Amino acid sequence: MKARRPLPDGQVRVVPSLLAADPGALRASLSRVASAGWCSLDVMDGRFVPNLSYGPDVLRALDGCGARIDAHLMVEDPETYGPVFAKAGADWVVFHAETCPKPVPLLRRLRRMGVGAGLALKPRTPASAVLPWLDELDLVLVMTVEPGFGGQSFMERMLPKIRALRSAIDRSGRKVWLQTDGGIGPKTAPLAAGAGSDSLVSGTGVFGAADPLAALRTMRRAAQEAFNRRG
Ligand code: DX5
Repeated sequence: MKARRPLPDGQVRVVPSLLAADPGALRASLSRVASAGWCSLDVMDGRFVPNLSYGPDVLRALDGCGARIDAHLMVEDPETYGPVFAKAGADWVVFHAETCPKPVPLLRRLRRMGVGAGLALKPRTPASAVLPWLDELDLVLVMTVEPGFGGQSFMERMLPKIRALRSAIDRSGRKVWLQTDGGIGPKTAPLAAGAGSDSLVSGTGVFGAADPLAALRTMRRAAQEAFNRRG
């Protein structure tokens, strides 16, 4: 029986994104940073985003590598593929609010399957798109790049959205991760955490470094200090 997924505890997580890892050695790449405890698998269908990435077999191939895995579904049809990735072993399944105007049935179905349920927001989608459903969520993902590709620049104009969601989550008293994804590196991790994000997805910032684990640890320290200093 898998240990329970971590709940928000005031400790910032830096979550390596496998999109920036060596596609011919995903398991080995993940094992190098498994001590992070949590990594992200970007699932793309070539329709919601102009890129294709991984199927459920890739997730199954990562089983037992020592890290929790969130499946970030950048797909047009999360009702179909959400349960597929839940069955394949995801610890969280995160789908886009833009692809599911009435997300509660799917969120509840994922939770009944024993996985964390999350909603993701593209940069142009306001925080209000998820606020009605905080009680149904284990994670909210704020994209700080247009989804589809790694290696893009962090959008600082997303910081007010992160702050607004942090306030809403704190007011709700719910244990909901506030995840940020896109352009997270040594300089931007403290910005995102200082705005209230406690889960930072980083692909290039981790796997593009000479020593991925050292880069992750440096980011995490700087992010935790910024998170603790929030006004
Ligand atoms: C975009 C992807 C990327 C990836 C991280 O759809 O979701 O954000 O996880 O990419 P970097 O960290 O390289 O920006």
